[in-house]
Amino acid sequence: SYIVVTDREGTDHRLDAVEGWRVMEIIRDHGLPIKAECGGACSCATCHVYVAPEWQERLYEATDEEVDMLDEAFEVEEESRLSCQILFSPELAGLKLQLAPQ
Ligand code: FES
Repeated sequence: SYIVVTDREGTDHRLDAVEGWRVMEIIRDHGLPIKAECGGACSCATCHVYVAPEWQERLYEATDEEVDMLDEAFEVEEESRLSCQILFSPELAGLKLQLAPQ
């Protein structure tokens, strides 16, 4: 399985993805620049990504914690999510997202 991540220069990266991993961890472990300062505890908002429109409703909804923390992120859009709060599963194979500005 894989996900496709667009970096801040507009280049797409196809990243191998493992079930049960947080999308933030997949991005970070492939060496793409994502701060993820809190390490996935939903308390920093530096793992902010934009999810491609066709994928938004295929993700489970953000929790209240995620929504509150997203308020702290920069340039929040309709398609904004915190990538540490998205657990990869087979249904998400091919998931497309873009790194948000930091
Ligand atoms: Fe800190 Fe996601 S890594 S909120």
